Amino acid sequence: MIIAIDGPAASGKGTLAKLIARHWGLPCLDTGLLYRAVARDVHARGFRLPDTWSAVALARSLDPSSLDDPGLRSPGTGEWASIVASISEVRAALLDYQRAFAAQPGGAVLDGRDIGTVVCPAADVKIFVTASPEVRARRRFLERQAQSEAVTYERGLADIQRRDARDAVRESAPMRSAADATLLDTSDLDIEAAFDAAVGLIKRKIGQ
Ligand code: C5P
Repeated sequence: MIIAIDGPAASGKGTLAKLIARHWGLPCLDTGLLYRAVARDVHARGFRLPDTWSAVALARSLDPSSLDDPGLRSPGTGEWASIVASISEVRAALLDYQRAFAAQPGGAVLDGRDIGTVVCPAADVKIFVTASPEVRARRRFLERQAQSEAVTYERGLADIQRRDARDAVRESAPMRSAADATLLDTSDLDIEAAFDAAVGLIKRKIGQ
């Protein structure tokens, strides 16, 4: 069973993907980490974004074993990731790895922006997870405050809006819900309620 989970930053899609994968005993890939890793590698070599040529070369030689680097989760890396993710050759270079991950025996859960539309258009279940920008900014603010980072809600909201806009308008694989995806709005749901809703809709979809 392949489960595709797409949606914007801080919608809850990553946490949901991990919980769903654990529930059904499936491997899980956070595809945002691939773009974040390319952005990290471009930066580490002192290139300036957008440096299309080096981003494409680094995407082609990306080592997936470097995806558990905690630095990949930083807000700055997310911003650079959305810049490298708008380069169509970078996206093409990362496609085979994502599709091979999805094709494992038994299936997989993948989360990102274009899983239901481009990476796995034949996925058994597609969920587009969303929440209002204000709710998402509040979640990010509280997470970062808990880690004692110097952040403001307003700055976080502006970052989220800028990243949403860049991800949604790019020419190559823009963030959008697949026509056959089910929308899950988590604005008024905590993670347990969102997980229950997701499990219910997956069971309905696969006829369990
Ligand atoms: O999901 P996350 O915030 O880690 O993703 C970082 C960036 O990577 C996103 O803003 C988006 O531009 C890009 N991305 C993408 N396609 C995916 C996953 C992430 O374009 N499937």
